[in-house]
Amino acid sequence: MSNSLISISILFTLLSLLLISCNGESKSNEQANTSSSIQNAADSTSGVLYKPSELALLMRQMHEELEQTGIELKDNPEPQISFADYSGIIGSTPTNPDEIDANYDAMARVWLSAYNEFKEEPSRENYNKVMETCVACHKHNCPGPIGKIEKLKF
Ligand code: HEC
Repeated sequence: MSNSLISISILFTLLSLLLISCNGESKSNEQANTSSSIQNAADSTSGVLYKPSELALLMRQMHEELEQTGIELKDNPEPQISFADYSGIIGSTPTNPDEIDANYDAMARVWLSAYNEFKEEPSRENYNKVMETCVACHKHNCPGPIGKIEKLKF
């Protein structure tokens, strides 16, 4: 391999680590998946200094709570759903401020209105719309967790 080919492949490896590092919640998920070992490797490069951002923590909370909501909707004839205030999706400090642009804010508003519709009418259909909006933003900003979010849909 020529030197330039080697540096291109190193670049791609680094890029893919960056993408996966937008998926830091995999450790809190018991399900083993193929990206988790790579993810742990990516986390360990930042060692004890690794600290999730305010936005990353909010995202984890959204993911966990909406996963629970999905279980209720699926298994419980009279679902006990607790709703939360996720308005911090706009304004929370992110890991990477470059990702938070006008497009992010627009997507976040679309997401909040989908979540409000779900609050008003907590149907499976509206739940799926919330999840589709999560995925839409992630396609643009943070592709790592898309597979996991897709799994939450009915
Ligand atoms: C408006 C855009 C947007 C929407 C909507 C959105 N996300 Fe995110 N998500 C992000 C960004 C940007 C990050 C990276 C946050 C950071 O690292 O600071 C992220 C990070 C995450 C993470 C990884 C958190 C971590 O531990 O690093 C998960 C999981 C996640 N989102 C799940 C969801 C789920 C589930 C939904 C819908 C219920 C959702 N997201 C909706 C943009 C979005």
